[in-house]
Amino acid sequence: KVAAVIEDVERTLATPTALLRGISDALVLEMERGLRGDMHSQLKMLISYVDNLPTGPSVGDEHGLFYALDLGGTNFRVLRVQLGGREKRVAKQQYQEVSIPPHLMVGTSLELFDFIAAVLAKFVETEGDEFHLPMGRQRELGFTFSFPVNQLSISSGTLIKWTKGFSINGTVGEDVVAELSKAMERQGLDMKVTALVNDTVGTLAGGRYMDNDVVAAVILGTGTNAAYVEHANAIPKWTGLLPKSGNMVINTEWGSFKSDKLPLSEYDKALDFESLNPGEQIYEKLISGMYLGEIVRRILLKLAHDAALFGDVVPAKLELPFVLRTPDMSAMHHDASHDLKILGSKLKDIVGVADTSLEVRYITRHICDIVAERGARLAAAGIYGILKKLGRDKVPTDGSPMQRTVVALDGGLYEHYKKFSSCLEATLSDLLGDEASSSLVAKLANDGSGIGAALLAASHSQYADIY
Ligand code: BG6
Ligand code: GLC
Repeated sequence: KVAAVIEDVERTLATPTALLRGISDALVLEMERGLRGDMHSQLKMLISYVDNLPTGPSVGDEHGLFYALDLGGTNFRVLRVQLGGREKRVAKQQYQEVSIPPHLMVGTSLELFDFIAAVLAKFVETEGDEFHLPMGRQRELGFTFSFPVNQLSISSGTLIKWTKGFSINGTVGEDVVAELSKAMERQGLDMKVTALVNDTVGTLAGGRYMDNDVVAAVILGTGTNAAYVEHANAIPKWTGLLPKSGNMVINTEWGSFKSDKLPLSEYDKALDFESLNPGEQIYEKLISGMYLGEIVRRILLKLAHDAALFGDVVPAKLELPFVLRTPDMSAMHHDASHDLKILGSKLKDIVGVADTSLEVRYITRHICDIVAERGARLAAAGIYGILKKLGRDKVPTDGSPMQRTVVALDGGLYEHYKKFSSCLEATLSDLLGDEASSSLVAKLANDGSGIGAALLAASHSQYADIY
């Protein structure tokens, strides 16, 4: 019975390379539909209003004191940076990280924005003399808000929907910058939001500042998403003036991608059905850190019910949604000891089963492997799709050399789950082939989105002409 369930899991979660290629093609088609503004497109392909990425110290356009606020990952972060212009990359930076109390993620808009504005106000009070704001100027902020937003300008935009663990009434359709600005006023904080960006866009900006060849950014954390630099004239729905750079950063919101090619199992369907956002963010639910551990839990539960994996009694704890978190799954998956001791003690802590047999431990690790591998391979297919859209997926046929292409990656899943990231990279190389993959660099851009938001706040400063 155990073998039958495992076989079924292996079969339904399988991602052979040919399937991945088909998924990449389907993704590219959806990207194009989204750029046309097709109402039925699953990818929103949001226009970021970022048409000029940071130049970096060789040009040195960015200087002065800026703040950034980063909401939407595992932690909420506030940051201040003194940008050094030509002299130094980031002359000085300080940040503070706070975890969002879970009740605020499903509470009211007012409570959430008051909470973040209060943390920001306290943080501003600790600004030391090493940071310098010219007399008479207002402090300026880059706001990284990691949810889908219909941008109205670089510094305003309305929330389309909440994703990940957030579900708050009354924010959808509202301008999140206006909400934040009102909350800052209530705190007596005089600060202006000059850039509103998604975390992918912030990571792209921060990545580009460090490396001129960064053309796309991918987040693999609680959620997943990608942004890339598109030619403005390849965006039929863009009705504004053609930007001087000729480019526009697009936030794909690829987490909402759906396709009958995606390998959805009974576990994924049940997870989706019981989630905060049924029917939505399907690609994200197969890949990202919020869900991987939960998929493993559901498979173990099936094995417990149908094949008595943990003995005659199904462990009560295993019935609890989200009891198995992805960091725990990662720890179990990476256990390389001969008796899988770490895995055993995790099962004891999380599932409440002491003294599991070696066989049960091996089975558990195998399940972690199947689920992580599927997620990593699907994420690689997504990146491959973006490279295809950019025309950087193969060696040019006209004999010109392959351009160096850098993808900035961030998020707890990519950073900490090594088997996930190495599988992703190996799959991407496989999809690209030897020659094309030798020009691709996948780079961890840790915490780049905060700096990126501050850089974009700088380039859109109300004092930009003076600086
Ligand atoms: C951080 C970025 O490093 O990664 C955030 O600064 C981003 O902007 C986050 O949202 C995503 O990762 P996680 O694991 O916190 O969801
Ligand atoms: C979710 C959000 C998206 C964000 C991603 C990573 O998919 O909808 O905006 O970029 O998570 O944090």
